[in-house]
Amino acid sequence: MKTRITELFGIERPIIQGGMHYVGFAELAAAVSNAGGLGLITGLTQKTPALLAQEIARCRELTDKPFGVNLTFLPAVNPPDYPGYVQAIIDGGVKIVETAGNNPQKWLPALKDAGIKVIHKCTSVRHALKAQSIGCDAISVDGFECAGHPGEDDVPNFILLPRAAKELSIPFVASGGMADGRSLVAALALGADGINMGTRFIATKEAPVHQNVKDAIVAASELDTRLIMRPLRNTERVLLNDATQRVIEKERQLGNSLTFADIVPEVAGVYPRVMQQGDMEAGVWSCGMVAGLIDDVPSVQQLLDRIMAEAEALIRQRLTGLLN
Ligand SMILES: Cc1cc2nc3c(=O)[nH]c(=O)nc-3n(C[C@H](O)[C@H](O)[C@H](O)COP(=O)(O)O)c2cc1C
Repeated sequence: MKTRITELFGIERPIIQGGMHYVGFAELAAAVSNAGGLGLITGLTQKTPALLAQEIARCRELTDKPFGVNLTFLPAVNPPDYPGYVQAIIDGGVKIVETAGNNPQKWLPALKDAGIKVIHKCTSVRHALKAQSIGCDAISVDGFECAGHPGEDDVPNFILLPRAAKELSIPFVASGGMADGRSLVAALALGADGINMGTRFIATKEAPVHQNVKDAIVAASELDTRLIMRPLRNTERVLLNDATQRVIEKERQLGNSLTFADIVPEVAGVYPRVMQQGDMEAGVWSCGMVAGLIDDVPSVQQLLDRIMAEAEALIRQRLTGLLN
């Protein structure tokens, strides 16, 4: 399948694996790229720029296909060493960066000078237009369904994607709620040039996370996620567990006087315990409504082969068949 996204990134299939904290290591990124998609290493999961440089080198040993790095800009008391991470990406010869969380303008000149293509992930048409105007090459349009940070506008992809298609001239992929061939064909119909998936890629053989995490996604239905941190205007979609319930209870009690300090035990530094030790009650962790569409743990190659075969059958048989 050839779209503006496969052309832009030099990949065979219009499927991207979004950056995921403590999931997006070299093993998963390389598996996605080897299967013809675009894998992304999650920059900030590497504690220092030197460690990111090592992870990039490790990924290069695992694949000779294009892969990228996600750089997430989130509110932080002590911001990470972003100049150092950008330099590690440039020095590592990476040619694709996914930015997310905030306007990437400050970092664009350095990235573009190094010949790096930038896909910015955002949750509204106005942010997508801003990213286009400052020179981003593509957008990952992240609908309300998505795992992680859906923003504060709550516009689902059935509205957001056609709105983006109307306004944007650069290519974009549909992110949030994507799982299978149906997702891909629907995204293309709504004007996107491919899909970005998070949650679906965690439930794969190669995802370097504890089996408990994969099992939890397979067991979850589309009713099992919750939005937290709305009073902080830092809304996050997470899987419902005891920690999520405690956060919701604190939000109910404290209302708009809630501060980050109130929920530190549930949200701060919990990812290694969840993802690596499989302690599913250690804290809150991002998960999409798409969990309701996930009921197996295939290899990444099997997953991408299946998505493309389903998409082809849908287009050739169901869709063209409807015209006869
Ligand atoms: C466990 C987990 C961690 C994530 N961490 C990040 C992150 O660090 N940076 C980022 O830009 N997006 C992050 N995301 C969001 C994904 O890249 C992607 O945009 C999202 O999962 C898409 O929605 P979906 O899960 O419905 O496919 C994370 C998602 C999950 C499930």
